[in-house]
Amino acid sequence: MAESVDVRGRIEDLREQVRYHNRRYHIEDAPEISDAEYDALYAELEALEAEHPELATPDSPTQRVGGEPLEGFEEVRHAVPMLSLANARKTEDLSEWDARVRRLLGPDEEPRYVTELKIDGLAVSLRYENGRFVRGATRGNGMVGEDVTQNMRTVRAIPDRLDDEPPDVLEPRGEVFMRLADFEKLNRRQEAEGKPTFANPRNAAAGSIRQLDSRITASRPLTIFLYGVGEGGEAYESHSAMLDALKSYGLRVNPYRVHDSIETVIEECERRAAERESLPYQIDGVVVKVDSREQQRALGTVARAPRWAIAYKFEPLAGRTKLLDVIVNVGRTGALTPQALLEPVNIGGVTISRATLHNEDYIKEKGILIGDTVVVERAGDVIPQVVRPVTEDRDGDERVFEMPTHCPVCGEPVSRPEGEAVTRCVNARCPAQALEHIIHWASKGAMDIEGLGEKVATRFFDLGLIKDPADIYHLEAEQISPLEGFGEKSAENLVRAIERSKEQPFPRVLFALGIRHVGSVTAELIAERFSGEDLLRGVSVEQLVEINGIGGVVARAVVEYFALEDNRDLVERLMRVGLYFERVRTKPSDGPLTGKRMVITGTLSRPRGEYVERLEAAGGTFTSSVSKNTDYVLAGEEAGSKLDRARELGVPVIDEAGFEELVS
Ligand code: IVH
Repeated sequence: MAESVDVRGRIEDLREQVRYHNRRYHIEDAPEISDAEYDALYAELEALEAEHPELATPDSPTQRVGGEPLEGFEEVRHAVPMLSLANARKTEDLSEWDARVRRLLGPDEEPRYVTELKIDGLAVSLRYENGRFVRGATRGNGMVGEDVTQNMRTVRAIPDRLDDEPPDVLEPRGEVFMRLADFEKLNRRQEAEGKPTFANPRNAAAGSIRQLDSRITASRPLTIFLYGVGEGGEAYESHSAMLDALKSYGLRVNPYRVHDSIETVIEECERRAAERESLPYQIDGVVVKVDSREQQRALGTVARAPRWAIAYKFEPLAGRTKLLDVIVNVGRTGALTPQALLEPVNIGGVTISRATLHNEDYIKEKGILIGDTVVVERAGDVIPQVVRPVTEDRDGDERVFEMPTHCPVCGEPVSRPEGEAVTRCVNARCPAQALEHIIHWASKGAMDIEGLGEKVATRFFDLGLIKDPADIYHLEAEQISPLEGFGEKSAENLVRAIERSKEQPFPRVLFALGIRHVGSVTAELIAERFSGEDLLRGVSVEQLVEINGIGGVVARAVVEYFALEDNRDLVERLMRVGLYFERVRTKPSDGPLTGKRMVITGTLSRPRGEYVERLEAAGGTFTSSVSKNTDYVLAGEEAGSKLDRARELGVPVIDEAGFEELVS
């Protein structure tokens, strides 16, 4: 019969698709289609199998709960399976569900319902024995998950020990997720480190929990809401009593409400849908559960989901529109980000005409072409993103996007280091990054210019007073004092702080340059081997990797930095204003001044750098300000406030002759 052949084919086709997308979502953390699209495939398959029971097979994806666990983690078999939920798309579906619940319970039973937010994260099961956290597992396929105990231990919202009096064995279950603000911050950090960004908070949470290296998990801002109990759940009479108990044990519990009728449940669902975007984390619906445990038992469970619960799913914040063009933005860290220019489209009440395309690889992997009809998603504060092309709509006029080879802002060649996803402009004077560099330059860990924080730096930059770090050293009090918020005194203080920063040792200066991958420790290592002059003259990758602690990535970043004309020019100007660019010697561990801290001030008969070098050769440390930890102050002619301060604190003051005596 033609129809049954067609149906059989369609069922097979749908099973293949569902299996494939299960894998992308549950195993690879890289879904290709939205939840709504997946749910539609799943629902069609379920409906066809219900209509044609003769075609149902035990290996259909509708007979299972998710995907297989990945290799690399131990398997955990869930003693109580981690179930899934049936979905309601419309409020009528909730009324129908309520009617079914009532029918199944019989006329003598009145159900009470609990509503909770449906958090969009990763389902996990915790295990506490005698109140101590002993294991954490992912949901996996619902029967078997992965042992992620080490990773879960790093999540601060998961307590080691429970309060109150929990059952001997308790398996609280819930959703690990990332708040929107934390997600944005993480993505900015990923971007600054040249690592790929996450498409959404769910992927970021899932990717973080399923890390083989728990130190990476520890650095990720994860949190959790618990909404159920596996083993140990028998102890509670109702769902709400269980949630209250979880709270009393010190666990984080999803906000919930109890209802006497489906009408207030529906009101709650509608209210939550309207307010979803004011929450600090992503939700994709409301979960409705029958409160009484006894009623839950009476209702039972079908293949993959309990009859006593249902998920009211919100409309996805997605839409389709045309990708008109791709432009490239240069961020404050120099990252080149392709941005989609879209035919304006209304998504959940907001008109979207721009969306991110993340990076070059993303566009290639998704096969997005300029001119394509594309699916765009937005959620909360997350920047709208192009999710995929609708290839069926192509007419042949689409074209491939090419990443520019030169920075669209300053015109210098861009670089994309091997193994990194991000293309960058590495020109320190590129206007797109200049402000960021100035802020870094003046920051505490770098040149430590008091009074030149982010706000003031931004103002000076916007006024055109400073365009790069070298300009800072040409600021005059007369330029600053007329500005709002400044007076003569504060302007002078700032100029003095700038002047003081000239005494920062070379490693600080090198760190302040903001060369990619050159942190303060790396800067010290380099400064022990090479001077600023050496670096300007050209140091090779081979020479740099000879330094213990410097690898290829750092070495290439340094070489690349000093190869750019603009960067060299900046360094030369910084040399001319009198900053230290002299090589620093490794401190001998047993010189005459080992462990001693010295401040050098005033005019001396030789350049100050020489005294610093000799001090360090004798094992001492050069510091820029006088404190009670200072051992000596070497004071030359016209030594000012530092000398006063030394006297105030009773720090020994020496002259050049005294210095000679000490170092010899
Ligand atoms: S209850 C037996 N409650 O949604 C009930 N699930 O589609 C099993 N989820 O795998 C789940 N928030 O990852 C429940 N408040 C909530 C939830 C929730 C999010 C997720 C969970 C589950 C999926 C079910």
